[in-house]
This record gives sequence, structure tokens and C-alpha cells, in this order.
Amino acid sequence: MAARTSRLPAFYKITIPERRAAVADSTGVSVEQMAECLAGGGLPQEVADKFVENVLGTYALPYGVVLNMRVNGVDHVVPMVVEEPSVVAAASNAAKMIRGSGGFVAETDAPVMTSQIQLYEVPEVEAGAARLEACKDELLALATAAVPGLVERGGGPVGLEVRSIGDGMLVVHVHVDCRDAMGANLVNTIAEAIGERVAELGGGKLGLRILSNLCDRRLVRVRCQVAAEALATETLSGTEVIDGIVNASRFAEADPYRAATHNKGIMNGIDAVVIATGNDWRAVEAGAHAYAARTGKYGPLAIWRKVTGPAGEAVLEGFLEMPLSLGTVGGTLRVHPAARLSLQMMHVTSAQELAMVAACVGVASNLAAIRALATDGIQRGHMALHARSVALAAGAEGPEVERVATLIVEARDIPLTAARRALRVIRAIPDSTRPLTP
Ligand code: MEV
Repeated sequence: MAARTSRLPAFYKITIPERRAAVADSTGVSVEQMAECLAGGGLPQEVADKFVENVLGTYALPYGVVLNMRVNGVDHVVPMVVEEPSVVAAASNAAKMIRGSGGFVAETDAPVMTSQIQLYEVPEVEAGAARLEACKDELLALATAAVPGLVERGGGPVGLEVRSIGDGMLVVHVHVDCRDAMGANLVNTIAEAIGERVAELGGGKLGLRILSNLCDRRLVRVRCQVAAEALATETLSGTEVIDGIVNASRFAEADPYRAATHNKGIMNGIDAVVIATGNDWRAVEAGAHAYAARTGKYGPLAIWRKVTGPAGEAVLEGFLEMPLSLGTVGGTLRVHPAARLSLQMMHVTSAQELAMVAACVGVASNLAAIRALATDGIQRGHMALHARSVALAAGAEGPEVERVATLIVEARDIPLTAARRALRVIRAIPDSTRPLTP
């Protein structure tokens, strides 16, 4: 293995076997391992049959890698599973700009999840809450006894809160350090183990016992900077692009309609990593959007500002904060070959490190999207990628795909019929670059 790096120039131009060799060289994951773990879409049918019910087969998605990622001074080649064209390339491109200013700086809270135990029709809410408060230690001891394996690994319950939420309801929260697990099973086990005792103490009826996906004690924070010259386009100066990106951020800060789309751009990156590592993307999505609405007004998970660099120059600075419940042990990970491959390739040693890297990919995706929106718009790049899918659908093979795509983009005529026509043209005249006029 060469030195671990996520800088693999011209990666997109080489073939899949060549890409696998380059990733093997820079991550230490072998080519054979990649071939084995990614065969059949990364999940053998017999394994899929053990995951869920009524299995008929598996459903594959592209497995790519985002390059140029440098987080807290360490390089990571990060797998992304995503069907949307341009997400991987755009994140890699933005990560390169950020890398030029030192890379991402990330931090996380401890991996604490929250277990909820609901009591309803509580006859005396205040008195019930006081009895629960008085027996916190007893409840925490019960909760701790329910997860001996977690305690052995250095985690376990770390706090308990009693909340009165109105309408005769009391909710007990048990906060649990889940170490390298995502934690859903652990906190659900705790909720069920202490539920009866909570009801005895609080009064009323025992309701739901389940984790909360608003895991706001498990936040990840990312900061990064980008030099103005790295952001410049053919027609706009770096400072103008910074102003455009800050304007895009302020738009998202002021308007929930825009914030939803801004956050979608962040989740394009995060979800792709979450899926590639066998984690629960619905949980991550639920937490992200609930956190985005925590003040009562839905807002952006990442914001961007213009700051001044050491020589008085304009610099773009981004900041993201969001909950991220990811695991590197247990659940799907134990049995999903491609998910295990992803973790090894990423070179992360804990759930916290995984969350930091995933969040950084989210920041890269966000930057790429809003830079494009603040400059050329996203349709130009999307059109080129969309044209490749249309070329494939028209039956183009190998090098024909790029040629057909180029022809239909140049002709600004993307429908399938145009791609079929372009394919007939290049097959009839192999070196033709003739424009596609009907
Ligand atoms: C498309 O998948 C994501 C974007 O809409 C995000 C954004 O608007 O910031 C481009």
C-alpha cells in the first residue's frame, strides 16, 4: 500500500478495475476484497433473505467514492451509495477546494442516544414527576443492569430526565452512551426494562417505550474554510462567488422552503455514506430535520459566511451542526459484506469518527450545490450527466456513451429519440462529431 491518501487525480477517467486498484493502493483494502464484497450489488441473496421478510431478490445502487476528503488532518476515501448523477463528483470537487485551505475540522459529542418512556392519564402529574425524580438512581441502576455488554464496552446510561409534556403525560428520558453502536436496540431494551417501574412510580398508564430519533445529545459539528481563488469561475471572481454562497445561506436561514432544499443538498452527501456503511438513513433523516426545526422555525443545518483571512483577503467559512446516530458495530454491519468493506476503506475507528466524516461529506455536497446555484446554476452539469443516462438507455455502449452524450448536449436535444438518432449517426460515421440537426 502506498501512503494513505484521498487525492487520486483523474480517477473518473480510468476504468472500474483501474479505480479498484488505485483505491486498494491508497486504502489497503485489497482488489480481491472489493471484488468479493461488491459482487451481486454487495449483498448475496441468501443474506438478504435473513435481513427482511418476503425477499424476492436484492436491489443495487451505484457504489462510488468521494475523493479529496481530509478530516482533522487525516485522509479518507469515502464510499457513497447514491443514484443521483453528479453528487459524487460534486462532493469530491468541493472537498478538493476545502482541502486547499487545510481540510475539514470536525468534532462530536459523546454517542448518546435517548430512550423515551411515556406515561399517560397520570392522575397527579407534579407528584408523579417528583417521585420519579427522587428515584433517579434506582431507575438508572435498573437501566444499567439491562445492558451489561454495553457497560463492559465502556458505555451505558449516563442520565435521566423527567418531562411533563401536558395533557396528563409524563415522559422519562434515559440518556445512554452507546459507544460504537447506533444504539436503537440498546435504548429500546432499556425503555422496556424500566417501563413497569417508571409507571409504578409516576402513576398513570404505561405508554410507548422507544428511542427518540431527535438525538440532540449526539451532535456533530464541522467547520471549514475555502480560499476565494478556489471558488472563482470563468466569469465570476472568487469574492463574487463567496458573496453568492453567503446569499444562498441567508436565503436558507430566512426561508423554510429554501432551507428544506439546502438541507436536501447536505443529506445527498450524508445519506450516501450512511447507506454505504449499512446504517439507518431513515433515523438520520428524522433526526436531521427535527433538529433543523428545533427553534420552531425550520432552518439550514449548515451556514456560510465571508470572513477575513490572515492577509486581509476574503475567505469563505462554513459551519454545520446536526445530530448523527451512526454505528460501526452491530446490526446490518455484522452481516453486510459491502458495509464492512466501506468501513475498512474509510479507515474510521469509531462511530464518532464515522459521524464526523459523513457530516463533512454533507458539507462538501452542500458547498458544491450552492456554489453551482450561485454561479452557473445546476442544470448545465446535470444536463451532461443526464445525457449519459439517456445515451445508455438509447443503447450506446463503451466510448459511444460519451460521444452520444456530447452530441445531444451540444444540440440541446436530450430526449431518447435524439439519443437514438445520435447513436445511428456515430455508428454510421464512426468519427462523426457532426451537430445533430434533424
Ligand atoms: C439536488 O439533489 C440538491 C440541490 O437542490 C441542493 C440545493 O438546492 O442546495 C441542488
